[in-house]
Amino acid sequence: MVDIQVRNLTKFFVIGENLLDNLSFEIQEGERVAILGRNGCGKTTLFNILTGQMDYDSGEVYVNPNKRLGLISQIPKFPAGYTVEDVLRTAYAGLMKLKARMERLEADMAGGATAEQLREYDSLSNRFQSGGGYEMDVDVDKVCNGLGIPAEQRAQEFDSLSGGEKTRANLARLLLEKTDILLLDEPTNHLDLRSVEWLEGYIQNFRGTVLAISHDRYFIDQIAQRVIEIADGHAEFYSGNYSFYMDEKQARFDLQMKQYEQEQAKLKQLGYTVERMKGWGINNRTLYRRAMSIQHRMDRIRKTERPKAERTMKASFGGRDFSGDVVFKMKNVSKSFGDRTLFSDVNLLVEGGERIALLGDNGTGKSTFIKCLLGEEDCQGKIQFGPAVKWGYLPQIIHLTTRSGASTTPCSMRKTARLRWRETVSARSCFRGKTCSRPWATCPAASSPAWGCVC
Ligand SMILES: Nc1ncnc2c1ncn2[C@@H]1O[C@H](COP(=O)(O)OP(=O)(O)OP(=O)(O)O)[C@@H](O)[C@H]1O
Ligand SMILES: [Mg+2]
Repeated sequence: MVDIQVRNLTKFFVIGENLLDNLSFEIQEGERVAILGRNGCGKTTLFNILTGQMDYDSGEVYVNPNKRLGLISQIPKFPAGYTVEDVLRTAYAGLMKLKARMERLEADMAGGATAEQLREYDSLSNRFQSGGGYEMDVDVDKVCNGLGIPAEQRAQEFDSLSGGEKTRANLARLLLEKTDILLLDEPTNHLDLRSVEWLEGYIQNFRGTVLAISHDRYFIDQIAQRVIEIADGHAEFYSGNYSFYMDEKQARFDLQMKQYEQEQAKLKQLGYTVERMKGWGINNRTLYRRAMSIQHRMDRIRKTERPKAERTMKASFGGRDFSGDVVFKMKNVSKSFGDRTLFSDVNLLVEGGERIALLGDNGTGKSTFIKCLLGEEDCQGKIQFGPAVKWGYLPQIIHLTTRSGASTTPCSMRKTARLRWRETVSARSCFRGKTCSRPWATCPAASSPAWGCVC
């Protein structure tokens, strides 16, 4: 049975530049499919169209109406002030409405009830019970325990959570919604290693249909049965996981290149023959006719397009060699929020040329550690940078909240970057042409490694 069908879907934001261009694909019930494609090719836009949050310009989109569709979005948004518990309870929006109505009726009936009120209450409580309303609290507790969401976090504001904690709360919400079709937009972006493994296991055992956008090759290898790549607005199909996709893509490239080269060699040879025969055939009609017939044969040869190699970003951070110099020293550095200690008595010496990974579960304080190091957060202890150290910082989420930030574009950022850095990187940056002058707010990379900041 088909769960999702997309036929000749076209979507554009700028007239004459189709982002999705006659895109067609089908997803069968129970399939686990990865959607791949370079930044800005329209993956999130496709999800927004599938969930009905965005209109499209032409084509057909079918989502099985008997199935529940749930989305984990790249940048989750909930109303300001929502706690984790509120977010979880949005999974029960219908039941919560019934409950509120029942509570109002209970209050009205406190001083004596009419027959009509009793009938309505009876009908409401039947619906509440059959919809699982009385198991709601138990279910929420169960899912929170499974996903490691502690009781105190449920009272915390959603906006104050770390990136991974937000994803986890969102996943819990989807589990409670008992979704049949899961749309996951870069779900592993902020998850810690253990949660990614948990999610992989969950998806492998999930009975419904999964469509996952991801740039995480290991995750895709674990969960995907097939891959749909969006390239130039079209869909390319690969019947395997990421490793299969990589091999197959290379094989298709090689085959197309070989065909192209063979055709070009043949055309060159025939072209040479035609020119010679035309020369000899000035006074010989037979030879001239033969030359023209070869010319027609050349015109009929199928012309394979030369395959384009993917543009890769080339950037390096190795300005000057300062191996062995002190980059920074930390002495007894500690940080607490209220009575919660994130880390204490950290002593660290980092020297030039080192490459260090900072690991830890979600919410353990990795981002806070970096902010303390850079002086964005207060902490106890002593931090000292080497005298010639210049640091660059790529935060987890880039906020441009100032008035000028709203209209900032990758181009204008580039202009403000230091000259040396501009010279090194600008020509190799991923922002080209119109993308470069688009407001940052509409830039899909604003939530992911945003090379525009540095180019
Ligand atoms: N509301 C909008 N108005 C104008 N342009 C938009 C809008 N939404 C998205 N775009 C543009 O459409 C293109 C596709 O965006 P989309 O978010 O779908 O990309 P993506 O494939 O999900 O990228 P990523 O892998 O970086 O998440 C981008 O160039 C983006 O700037
Ligand atoms: Mg996206």
